[in-house]
Amino acid sequence: MASTNKSKSKTQQGQKFPFSGGSTLSVHGARQDNPYHAIAEPVVQTATYTFKDTADLSDFMEARLWGKEEGRTEYGRYGNPTVAAVEKRLAAIEGADDTILFASGMAAITTTLLAMLPTNTHIVITDDCYRQTREFCNIFLKRLGIGCTVVPMGDYAVLESAILPSTRILLSESPTNPYLRILDMQRFAEIARKHSVKTIIDATFATPLNIQPLSMGIDLVIHSATKYLAGHNDLLAGVVSGGAGLIASLRNALGVFGAISDPHNAAMLLRGIKTLGLRVAHQNQSGQEVAEYLEKHPLIERVWYPGLSSHPDHSIAVEQMKGFGGVVSFTVKGDLKLTSQFIDALQIPIIAASLGGTESLIEQPALMSFYDLSTKERLEVGIPENLVRLSLGIEDTVDLIKDLKQALEHISHHSD
Ligand SMILES: Cc1ncc(COP(=O)(O)O)c(C=O)c1O
Repeated sequence: MASTNKSKSKTQQGQKFPFSGGSTLSVHGARQDNPYHAIAEPVVQTATYTFKDTADLSDFMEARLWGKEEGRTEYGRYGNPTVAAVEKRLAAIEGADDTILFASGMAAITTTLLAMLPTNTHIVITDDCYRQTREFCNIFLKRLGIGCTVVPMGDYAVLESAILPSTRILLSESPTNPYLRILDMQRFAEIARKHSVKTIIDATFATPLNIQPLSMGIDLVIHSATKYLAGHNDLLAGVVSGGAGLIASLRNALGVFGAISDPHNAAMLLRGIKTLGLRVAHQNQSGQEVAEYLEKHPLIERVWYPGLSSHPDHSIAVEQMKGFGGVVSFTVKGDLKLTSQFIDALQIPIIAASLGGTESLIEQPALMSFYDLSTKERLEVGIPENLVRLSLGIEDTVDLIKDLKQALEHISHHSD
């Protein structure tokens, strides 16, 4: 978008920004001059864009034919300056050529897969991934004649043997939900390259500040921006980042499928992103301290957190991640009811789906995400009744631990 600033500018348009700190980029990455010298990016609330006259329209159409239209489009589904500002900021943080913003994380996933998988092709996904992603691949893609094989997370031999001549994509998550398994991304990317297939990682639980899949040879990275990127439990959005060519073809697909983010949502997301570095640093620290506290507690059976040496993927997490995130999963020594009593005794974490926001959220997956399954089906997908997923917010760590302590004391009277 054209700038109205005439004063000496410190923006990064056309010049290299020599700073690479995640928090610095969250505030200043791809910063541009705004109209009226505004420091905050404007909300350009419009559905369509105007042309002065037919000559102006012809110039635009001709430029677009050659892929040379710059700084404008003709309709809101094809682009918006507020949305573009978020996309550029996120590309800078992620170290990507380009980023696309979608209406939700699932919109990002489904649009990407539909665009990249013609009929009669095949995708390999790892288990312990977001339930709706697995459902989309197993049910909806299969209906379109696109095969899907689910392989166990962390078994690279099975992963490689699942690749067929028709395979186009390997899709995984890191960390996974709820067991926070960590993928060896370099190994994953190497296997894919050997078989000429593309790799996609959903790194929602990590954020671009804790892991950068593209730097390890992954083709596309996806985030549910609803979580840490927006960070305030108040909006839904999704993003896909990667190389220029792949992102350009996905942008065309988005223009057809239409799962765009609106400008107000984009402006709120951009506001949230500015504090990403502070929030993630705090959530990493709280995650580690809470995990260590719970692991030592006699009423806790087992804790899953990549920053603990007891976690099955601790060594790969140390190698590939800058921080281990704000989600801690654990089992309480007790049954469904005792676990619920522990959750109900907590005063800070709120019972709600989602993660990565300012408020700590807690859930007992057996009673939430997997409520519709029979006990047998739930156990088959590895979800026991006493499992708890705690997503830490930005409350003081000392208070969070104090709260966990009192809730565990509360149930200790019931567990004898
Ligand atoms: C790992 C992961 N991927 C994708 C999604 C879907 O994102 P959204 O809810 O923004 O559609 C979620 C939502 O919980 C998630 O946890």
